[in-house]
Amino acid sequence: MFPATTSQSILGTDAPLPALDADFLIVPWFEGEGPEAVRGLDQATGGQIGRAIASMEFAAHPFDQFITPIVDRNWKAARVALVGAGVIAAFGPDLARKLATLGALAARQRRVESLAFAIRPGLPDAAGDIDLAGFAQAVAEGLTLGEFNAGSYKTAADPVPGPAPRYTIALPDVPDTSPESPARIESSIVRGRVLGECSNLARELSNEPGNRLTPREFADRGAAIASQGGAAVEILDERQIEALNMGLLLGVARGSSEPPRVMVFRYEPPGLSSGPVLGLVGKGITFDTGGISIKPADGMERMKDDMAGGAAVACAMRAIATLGAPIRVVGIVPAAENMPGSRAIKPGDILRSAEGKTVEVINTDAEGRLVLGDGLWYARKLGATHLIDVATLTGAIVVALGKTTSGLFGTPDAWVQHVWRIADRAGDRSWPMPVFDEYKEQLKSDIADFTNTGGRPAGAITAAMFLKEFTGGLPWAHMDIAGTAWLEEARPYMPKGPSGVAVRTLAGLAFSADSWPK
Ligand code: BES
Ligand code: MN
Ligand code: ZN
Repeated sequence: MFPATTSQSILGTDAPLPALDADFLIVPWFEGEGPEAVRGLDQATGGQIGRAIASMEFAAHPFDQFITPIVDRNWKAARVALVGAGVIAAFGPDLARKLATLGALAARQRRVESLAFAIRPGLPDAAGDIDLAGFAQAVAEGLTLGEFNAGSYKTAADPVPGPAPRYTIALPDVPDTSPESPARIESSIVRGRVLGECSNLARELSNEPGNRLTPREFADRGAAIASQGGAAVEILDERQIEALNMGLLLGVARGSSEPPRVMVFRYEPPGLSSGPVLGLVGKGITFDTGGISIKPADGMERMKDDMAGGAAVACAMRAIATLGAPIRVVGIVPAAENMPGSRAIKPGDILRSAEGKTVEVINTDAEGRLVLGDGLWYARKLGATHLIDVATLTGAIVVALGKTTSGLFGTPDAWVQHVWRIADRAGDRSWPMPVFDEYKEQLKSDIADFTNTGGRPAGAITAAMFLKEFTGGLPWAHMDIAGTAWLEEARPYMPKGPSGVAVRTLAGLAFSADSWPK
């Protein structure tokens, strides 16, 4: 089980760099900067920075690193780690987050006990604004993301990175009267810390193998995670799911001896019982064999993370409740295992959704949209006024956008644009895809209201069109994270494995209600 509060807090300070007492002082460095860019630092390293720049050992390209001792006794830090920040005009909180993770991972590899990350004075973001609070939050998120450990079932000691160090974020000196007040920055650091921790919890869940994380176990752990943050949680068992007539979810679950579950999360700010209700829905397939339309063996082990969207919802609910979002939120995670057991649904079978619509199952491997159909309906039934679902839904989105970018779908445009903006700020890169009515033709069925697959063309879009049928005309966004939930290759700022995608986007939506489109 996860501890209620995972960790120490991150200290924010406006002390000058020489006063920072840390084993490791991380300083972003821009391309083309000379050794004097940070006053006194080059001298404090005995000229090593100037030498490294002159010899082009360190060119400050994004994610370059240069680590050297600080020899000047007037500086308290033991070592400085310059991290390449590229061209200054392109810098912003997103790259700051990644550099913080890079620095934190480097510090842990070296088993340092304390690190300080310097947000240098006068840094504009890409829009030219100086958003210190935004930078502070992003850096707190990034440092925390560096704490994630994969491979937790290893029985022999491995050269794993050391424990999490103590963190300080150094900020430029700001007057108490500025809108970048110390109090605001303080709460940004706390928010970043919590969002980073919740992202890591989602990564832990996604990393769990299917034999451990059955739908029942997923529900128990998701419930613990969210309720420790203060969200109300209810777990629906198979009998309650039957009573709600969730025929799509029950259909998917039929092929497994593991019964389905639905996690139901509710968050209400104290004293607020009106206004918009954000509905979060996440795909919770704890393992996807494809069912009777079984998948090829090659790479099937990856399908243990087919609940990454559901994990994002559970962990975002924790962040929303912990940090006290200003609006009501409901979260729904339909959880099941997609297996080809003897009672499994077969191609040609017809299922009836809780909403009453009938579906002809053409391919049992298109199971995510089925469970989400009932999930979206239930979020509406619980009063959601604005919907977003997150799902490892289609291989087709990986073909379309690759592994760096989630597909973003939905309607109306204003809601999708808002989600896009929030996702961008959260570091969950996404790109909008169309949901034109014409695509619905591909889901025509001769015998039921529609089919569950639309063939190969536009496979990610027809999946979204299917979901749209269950949104009741509410503002709705859909994130297809099939390409982004899992890193096949390590990046400088992220080890391979589960990414925790969408946790910060979902939480960010709950905190942006004042800028929701009318
Ligand atoms: N969980 C998969 C989608 C997926 C594929 C996630 C690759 C991560 C990586 C989903 O349930 C699925 O099997 N989708 C099918 C749909 C098809 C049968 C219409 C797909 O994409 O092939
Ligand atoms: Mn599938
Ligand atoms: Zn799936």
